[in-house]
Amino acid sequence: MPVAGSVRSIMVSSHHIAAAFRDVTKRFGETAILEDFSLEVAGGEFVSIIGPSGCGKTTLLRLLAGLTEPSGGEITQEGQAGRSAYIFQDATLLPWRTALRNVELPLQLAGVSRDERRQRAEELLKLVGLSDATLKYPRQLSGGMKMRVSLARGLALQPSLMLLDEPFGALDAMTRNRLNEELLDLRERQPFTALFVTHSVSEAVFLSNRIVVMSGQPGRIAVVETIDFPYPRKSALREQPEYYEKVAKVTGLLHQAEEVVA
Ligand SMILES: Nc1ncnc2c1ncn2[C@@H]1O[C@H](COP(=O)(O)OP(=O)(O)O)[C@@H](O)[C@H]1O
Ligand SMILES: [Mg+2]
Repeated sequence: MPVAGSVRSIMVSSHHIAAAFRDVTKRFGETAILEDFSLEVAGGEFVSIIGPSGCGKTTLLRLLAGLTEPSGGEITQEGQAGRSAYIFQDATLLPWRTALRNVELPLQLAGVSRDERRQRAEELLKLVGLSDATLKYPRQLSGGMKMRVSLARGLALQPSLMLLDEPFGALDAMTRNRLNEELLDLRERQPFTALFVTHSVSEAVFLSNRIVVMSGQPGRIAVVETIDFPYPRKSALREQPEYYEKVAKVTGLLHQAEEVVA
């Protein structure tokens, strides 16, 4: 029965879990930073995390990347840990390497041959719209261009999971909006699951399937809001009343979560 078979395979893929936190607790010394944090991220899902400063958002990404260990609970990630990429607010490019050679770096470290890594880095820079800047050094690039190089470098090893920690927080609003659209566009062309930390509610609404609103401290999930605008999402979405309403709703949820601290 081909119909039943295909329905089942769709169901299986929608239940496939790319990353999960189960009852995760994190302490630094005596201080509980995260408590009973549980979240499952489905394959291909885009999940944003917002919450007051210090509620443990960066710690969540670091736990998932294996950069720090949980004090309790369990963290799982599909595939090998090496299949995730970590993008920071600061593009963290090497100043003495050109854009091209910055993107080549993870490929070089993975032992990819010179010709192949050059070709792949060129393709990636083209993907982020920087074909004309491959030989420029970071100091010759704008903030938005540096972040595009950082995204290209992050995509170099074709990660199944992208961990993004306020990647557009230092950019002006117009560049940020443009990069939001570009990030979704990149995901259409090279699919990945995303866990995205931001302080911007409008950015989270624009990008995400779900927004996790945290309260702190210790960090916990206050509420999870589903955003079901269909993808591909284009800039026109920002002018829709449904979009404004969602931004207002999530802003209210965030304010409630922040009052938990006070
Ligand atoms: N290595 C560490 N040692 C001690 N405390 C830490 C360490 N890393 C983070 N913290 C503390 O954990 C809390 C959460 O930090 P973080 O995850 O960076 O929060 P957020 O990203 O939400 O602002 C903060 O109070 C921070 O000071
Ligand atoms: Mg942080």
